Amino acid sequence: MKIRPSAHRVSAEYMYKYNLATDRMKRLPADDPRNFMQQANVHCAYCNAAYDQPGQGALQIQIHKCWLFFPFHRWYLYFYERILGKLIGDPTFALPFWNWDHPRGMTMPPMFVEDPRSALYDRKRNQKHLPPAVVDLGKTDSTDTLQLVSNNLTIMHNEMIRCISDPLDFMGARYCEGSEANPGEGSVESGSHTVIHSWVGDPEQPTSEDLGNFYSAARDPLFYCHHANVDRMWYLWQRLPNNKLPNKRITDPDYLNASFLFYDENAQLVKVYVRDTFDNRRMGFDYERIDLPWVDYRPPPQAARTKINKVVDAPNAKTLFPLKLDGVVRFQVDKTKKGKADEILVLENITVDASKMIKFDVFVNDEDDNPSELDKASYLGSYAQLPHKPRSGTTSTSSRIRLRLTDLYDDIDIGDDDAIVVTLVPRQQGPGVTIGGIKIIENPTKPNPTAAAAADADTTTTTTTMIRFII
Ligand code: C2O
Repeated sequence: MKIRPSAHRVSAEYMYKYNLATDRMKRLPADDPRNFMQQANVHCAYCNAAYDQPGQGALQIQIHKCWLFFPFHRWYLYFYERILGKLIGDPTFALPFWNWDHPRGMTMPPMFVEDPRSALYDRKRNQKHLPPAVVDLGKTDSTDTLQLVSNNLTIMHNEMIRCISDPLDFMGARYCEGSEANPGEGSVESGSHTVIHSWVGDPEQPTSEDLGNFYSAARDPLFYCHHANVDRMWYLWQRLPNNKLPNKRITDPDYLNASFLFYDENAQLVKVYVRDTFDNRRMGFDYERIDLPWVDYRPPPQAARTKINKVVDAPNAKTLFPLKLDGVVRFQVDKTKKGKADEILVLENITVDASKMIKFDVFVNDEDDNPSELDKASYLGSYAQLPHKPRSGTTSTSSRIRLRLTDLYDDIDIGDDDAIVVTLVPRQQGPGVTIGGIKIIENPTKPNPTAAAAADADTTTTTTTMIRFII
C-alpha cells in the first residue's frame, strides 16, 4: 500500500526523491508518452475537446463538469504516480497531497516554490500568492488571515457535508454517450478545486497559465499535488458518517462501464474503467491521516428575522429570470412548504463565457446588501468555473448547481415563511453570466430507513475512525 503524505509534512529525503523522479520525467525523450509534457497533454486532451463521442456528431468528450471528474483524475494520478515510482526504482513512491483544507496546509507547499532550479518549480504562478500568502478558497480577496482560514473551513464544511443531498451533488451530474458536455459539476469541483487552480495561476500570463487554465494546468507539477487533495476529498466524503445519504455509490451501468485510455509506467496503452475507482485501497494507495477541522466547522446559528423583514419587498425570482448577473442581486424564491422543509435550491442553465474565470456566491436571508464574509450561516454555496476551450465554434458553456437548504434552515431563523430571500454576489465576473432559472425543490432523496439503520450500525466503526483524525 502506498501512503500519500501531506505535502507540508514530508521529509527532506522524500522531497529529494520526488524532485529526482520529476526531473527524470522531464528529461525523457519528447515522444515518450511518459514524458512530463506528454502527461500534461493527456489532461489537456480530455478537457479541451480533443476527442469526439464516436457516432454522436459534434458532441465532445469532456471529463470536467460532470460525474467523470473524480474517476478520471483518480486514474490520471494513479499512472502519473507509477511512472514517477518507476523512474526512481521505487514502487512504493506515493504523490504528496496539498492539504489546503487544513490551516497548516493553507499555503503553497514549500518544496514547489523554494528552489527555482528544482523540477517541482514553475515560474508561471501568481507571485503574490507565494508563501506566506494564505489560500483564499472563497476568492474574497480578503487580506485578513484569520478571516481567510475561517472562510476556508466553512467552505469545506459546506462542500463536503452541508450542501449535499444526493451523490451527484458531490460527484457531478450524469453524463453519458449522447449527452452534451458540462451537465453540472459537483460541489468540490465547482468550489475549492476550481478556486485553487485560479489562485495559483499567473495573472500576468495571457490566460492565467499554468494552473489557471485547463489546457496548461498539468504543466505545473503542483497540479498533481493539488489533485491528490481533491482525490482525498472524495476518499474522505465516502467515509464521512454524514448527510444521511442512502447510498454514496452511483450504480448506473453507463457510469460503471465508462472507460479512459492512459499510458502506464511501461509506456503501454491501457484501458481503465470508472467502476474500478471506488475503492482507493484496492487500487493500492491510501492517505496519511490528518485531523479534519472542517467536519464540525458549522457556522453559528444566526437570528436575522427582524432584518429580513426589511427585505421581503425584494422582487420575486419569477419576474427576474432569466437573469443577466452583472452585480449583486437580491430576490425572493418560493419554498415548496412553509418553514423548515427538506429542500434544495437549484440554479439552472448557468451560461458563462468558457474562456473566463467566473465565480459567484449564494446567500440566503442575509441582512447585508453586499455580504463579504463566508463563515456565517446565511452563506449557502458558490459556483465557479475555470477557463477552458469548448468545441470550436462555441464560446459558452452551460451547467447547473444544486445546494441543499435543509441544514441552513436549522441555522437561520426561517420561521414559517413561504419564501426565502436569495442574494447572488459575483466575485469574479466575465462578461455575460446568465442564469436561466432558479427554484426550490423538495429533496427527492429520502433517507432509506433500512440503509440508514445499517449505516448507523456501520457508523460505530466509521465514527471512531473519523474521530481519531479529528483532534
Ligand atoms: Cu482536470 Cu483540476 O482539472
